[in-house]
Order: sequence, then structure tokens, then C-alpha cells
Amino acid sequence: MIEKDVDIKEITTFGLSCKVKELMRIKTEQDLMLLSDRYKAKEKIYILGGGSNSVFCEEEYNGMVAKIENKGMEKISEDEDNVIIEVSAGQVWKDFVVDCCEKGLSNIENLAAIPGVVGAAPVQNIGAYGQEAKDSIVACEVFDMKTKTFYWISNKDCHFDYRYSIFKYQEGNLVIWKVRFSLKKHFSVNTSYKALKDVIDKVEDKSKITPSFVAKKVTEIRDSKLPDPKILGNVGSFFKNPIISQDQYEQIKKYYPNIVSFPAKEGVKISAGWLIEQCGYKGKRVGKVGMSEKQALVMVNYGEATGKEITAFANAIIDSVKNMFNIQIQIEAHLVSNH
Ligand code: EPU
Repeated sequence: MIEKDVDIKEITTFGLSCKVKELMRIKTEQDLMLLSDRYKAKEKIYILGGGSNSVFCEEEYNGMVAKIENKGMEKISEDEDNVIIEVSAGQVWKDFVVDCCEKGLSNIENLAAIPGVVGAAPVQNIGAYGQEAKDSIVACEVFDMKTKTFYWISNKDCHFDYRYSIFKYQEGNLVIWKVRFSLKKHFSVNTSYKALKDVIDKVEDKSKITPSFVAKKVTEIRDSKLPDPKILGNVGSFFKNPIISQDQYEQIKKYYPNIVSFPAKEGVKISAGWLIEQCGYKGKRVGKVGMSEKQALVMVNYGEATGKEITAFANAIIDSVKNMFNIQIQIEAHLVSNH
């Protein structure tokens, strides 16, 4: 059950080679108990889902990678408007979305084709095309490796925000094991995101617009914008879109009237892809890494990129954006190292 000296390249989408000391595939509650013993023995443990947001930056990782692979999906309850579904963390997210859409259930259709597993969705509150995981998550069941207990954390107590939840920077003792979602039985399309609205507006026969139809359109948009990790290793957006004050936004807009922005809870969200493009990094390649020519927010691995190249390149971009716009952008991907 525990594999030794495994190359992480096979199970992550960035495609970097990194030899991990041990890999444990977590399928059952007994596996979690064993994992907890390792945790209590103070071993370094990295919890991995679909490997689509983790970048292992060194040639070796001297700890254990615990890959969550529990499976299962169950309807918990239903009323006139909603269905509550409980899903194991190891289920593949995009398959879950397709399955719900085929049943006519909605509230996650705009999150179609996002790589990764269900258990990763709450961690950084995945979001796309005007929807976020927090809009449908009811609660998350966690296993606490410190106490060997299972308990539920409600949506409110997850403190979801843009690409944020309490799981993002937790001390490492909580493993998300199951997630409950509330899905809608009566569909109304969410076109708050312009790129999707443009596509939906063109559909003449409005009766065609079902959850599955929207998921299909979202998949098409994603495929046209985001590089396929099977061809060019990547982890989707490498940086977060920064949120700046209204004042700063207005200052910048005087000099850059075309700045791409979105309203945010506190201030204005700026497209990091646009900022990076202005700094000349769209499609730019340095050694074995580069920023995608389709989407300046996505770092791509052109071959055997090294962790050093990745961090140096990321830092150069951060500095460049800071110098040009006085905006501090932050890395969205999870960089994993031995320190
Ligand atoms: N833009 C540019 N240049 C670029 C990229 C974008 O000018 O190189 C501008 C364009 O005007 C574009 C706008 O920015 O219309 C928004 O771009 P896009 O729709 O691609 O969205 P994003 O803000 O760059 C976010 C998420 C994506 C998600 C899309 C769609 C983050 C960090 N990223 O990207 O999520 O798919 O919105 O909703 O919030 C991910 O997290 O891995 C991810 C792919």
C-alpha cells in the first residue's frame, strides 16, 4: 500500500520530476488511521488530490505524499428545490459535474472541466465563470490526524473567500474526506461572467440551455484558453487575481484605460493575466518554463523544468508587475518543498 521512491511526475499535471520518499494511496478509513500514526510520529505529510494545483519544486521530497482516493457518491435528502449529495473527496471533480448536469441538477455547471478531485474544491474554493464551490457546498467532513476523529465543518465555518478557505493554510492535520453539496432542481443559467454570457446570448433556441449544455460550452471556452496539461504541463492559473482599492484602481485607470477588472467584495479585482501580459510575459519563455501564449496567467512546463527555474521566473513576474503597477500579485498554486 505504501510505494517507495515514486516519481511525482506521473500523478501531477505540471509534469515536474520529483522523487517522493513514500506515496500512500488513501482509500479507506483504515488508511487514514495509519496515516494518522505517521502524522503523530512527526513525519512530513503532503495531502495530494488530483495533483492539478501542486508544484513539487525540488528533485526529491523527503516526506510522504498521501493521495486521497476514496470513492462514493450518495443522495442524502431532497425537497422541492434542492438535492443534497454527499461525495467522497477522491471522486474526480469533472465527472461529478457531468453526472449532476445529466441529472438536470445545477449550481456547479460553470465549474465544468476543472481538473482535480472533489476534496480539493473547498480547499481553495475553486471558481470559474461566475460560480464558486462555496455557492453549493453545505459542509465538509474532515478527518483530524491529531485526534483520529471525523467531524463536519459547515460552509460558514470554512470561511470561504476568493481562492481561500480555512483549509488553505491549516497546520496540516485535517484531511477533507467527504463534501456535501446542495444542488438546484430548477435551472436558471448564471451568465454573470462575460465570456460565458456572450456564448449563451447567441443561442437562439433558449430551451437548449440546460445544465449539460452550459457545462459543454464552459468546457469549450476552457479548452480554447487553457493549455492541455497532457501536452504542456501546467496547474491552471499560477497566480491569483489581485484585489486593490478603488482609489488605486482609479489612479491606474488614468494611465491604462483598458485595464481589465471585475467588481470584488472589498475593492476591485484586477485580471492578473492582463497585468502579466502588459509586462511582456504572455507567451514568454525562459529556459524550460514560460507563460502560456493563450493565457498569461498560466505557467507552462516546456520539458524538464526545474523548481529553481519556476521560482525564479515567478519572482521575476511578481517584481515586474510590482514595478509597473505597484500591485503585489500572489502565487495561487501550491509550491511544495522540503522546507
Ligand atoms: N486577460 C488578458 N490577458 C491574458 C489573460 C486574460 O488580457 O493573458 C484578460 C482578458 O480580458 C480576459 C480577462 O482577463 O477576458 C479574464 O480572463 P479569463 O476569463 O481567462 O479569467 P482569469 O481571471 O484570467 C479566472 C480564474 C480561472 C477561471 C477563469 C474563468 C483565477 C486565478 N483564475 O482566470 O481559474 O477559469 O477566471 O472564470 O481566479 C484556475 O484557478 O486555475 C483557473 C483556471
